[in-house]
Amino acid sequence: MKRIGIIGSGAIGAAIARLAIAADYEVMIANSRGPESLTDLIDELGSRAQAGDVRAAAAFGDIPVLAVPLTAYTNLPKDAFAGRTILSTGNYYPYRDGRILQLDTLEITTAEYEQELLPNTVIVKAFNNIVAHHIPLLADSLRRTALLVAGDDSEAKARVSSIVNTLGFDTVDAGTLADSWRFEPESGAYTEIYAASADGFRSDYLADRGAPVPVDRLRELLAVSHRPDVAARQY
Ligand SMILES: NC(=O)c1ccc[n+]([C@@H]2O[C@H](COP(=O)([O-])OP(=O)(O)OC[C@H]3O[C@@H](n4cnc5c(N)ncnc54)[C@H](OP(=O)(O)O)[C@@H]3O)[C@@H](O)[C@H]2O)c1
Repeated sequence: MKRIGIIGSGAIGAAIARLAIAADYEVMIANSRGPESLTDLIDELGSRAQAGDVRAAAAFGDIPVLAVPLTAYTNLPKDAFAGRTILSTGNYYPYRDGRILQLDTLEITTAEYEQELLPNTVIVKAFNNIVAHHIPLLADSLRRTALLVAGDDSEAKARVSSIVNTLGFDTVDAGTLADSWRFEPESGAYTEIYAASADGFRSDYLADRGAPVPVDRLRELLAVSHRPDVAARQY
């Protein structure tokens, strides 16, 4: 039986957990409040899901998923992740994470910052450029949508891509962690690319039902993406 541990039970963590259950994984999920706070989600996910603490979830599967705010990376038990490849969904939102000089000055990307915070790991970035409610709408075995995967280690990136494939998405190699600005917020390959209507998404993103983005289209969008002015970010 395939296994996956997910740290973060919010919008993204729960969405990935639902896909994993549908794809026949056993799932362990953790959050900051502890396993007892996860009863409703575990009941919804069913008998192949269980709650755990962060350490247990990190150890549960081959590649732990981190679906937590950027501020949480500093509070994670680093030894529990040492030596591991991590699928990271994180983004930098200054209103939530506080202003981070290295990111505002474009010295490094958010993914590189995460790698600095968890130095003995191999960070691979995926699922960070799609809004949570589009994930179940676009995970599809027939009308395949592609997601971007970035990382510095080719083998780790291939392993994460394989997981993303089993969860219902094609993948496009988006290069290294340094290249991952190409699908950060406000770049040309962020969440709006998966919208059924760009105007509708801007006015009420939660009402947008999403539209498939196949591999070739995603490659085109990535090629013309632009580096965002992170210091000007207001959210
Ligand atoms: N929401 C989206 O559409 C979206 C899309 C793409 C990427 N992202 C990014 O993905 C990440 C997760 O976003 P989200 O929307 O899922 O966030 P969220 O709904 O706020 O959920 C965050 C989760 O992280 C957990 N958490 C926080 N600190 C933790 C810690 N120290 N140890 C363990 N768990 C901790 C929280 O636990 P508690 O529940 O116990 O507080 C919560 O379950 C963020 O970086 C976000 O920017 C989000």
